[in-house]
Amino acid sequence: MPSTRHPIRRRQVSAALLAAPWVWPAAQAQGGRPLTPAQTEGPFYPVAMPEDSDYDLLRNGVRNYRLGQPAWLEGQVSDPEGRPVRGAQVEIWQCDQAGHYHHPGDGGRADPAFQGFGRVTVDDQGRYRFRTLRPAPYSGRTPHIHLKVRLGPRELLTTQVYVAGEAGNARDLLWRRLDEAGRAALTVPFTPGADGLRALFPIVVAA
Ligand SMILES: [Fe+2]
Repeated sequence: MPSTRHPIRRRQVSAALLAAPWVWPAAQAQGGRPLTPAQTEGPFYPVAMPEDSDYDLLRNGVRNYRLGQPAWLEGQVSDPEGRPVRGAQVEIWQCDQAGHYHHPGDGGRADPAFQGFGRVTVDDQGRYRFRTLRPAPYSGRTPHIHLKVRLGPRELLTTQVYVAGEAGNARDLLWRRLDEAGRAALTVPFTPGADGLRALFPIVVAA
């Protein structure tokens, strides 16, 4: 009975995608994973690197940041064939809970306890991990985390990560500019875990 078999098959496909979140249907069709879409760097990339720029944005030197919702942002950096990009560096930067960046263009108003920027080198399997805030909105933008991938002197990717289910996404000019596949690649759920929210953001770059 085709009318009952079809929905079952669809459910099986959904379960397979959930089990392997960075394998998208388009990747299977092309025989390679689609590249993570690039987006603008924006005006607030640090002009001077903070003294503390490690994986933990909720601790800046001796200060702890206690506002907002703590979240882990993590994933794997791979090439389109699924091989880890060893030696890649991942950077993130974002505003504090009040919507301010550590940047002179934002008036230097960011909370000094919020590190605001972090950089890590991926492990042997291409994995990275940051402890940060579930991003907060600021004037004119839906919540997002800026992200850059470098390999030695080369910039492989600059993009932005969005929060699934945010009502502001549909009103955000940069998010709206993405096509369906781009939105799916850059918009991830922040789900409750034992030690804060957790967001899985796989990154595919041409290395
Ligand atoms: Fe931004």
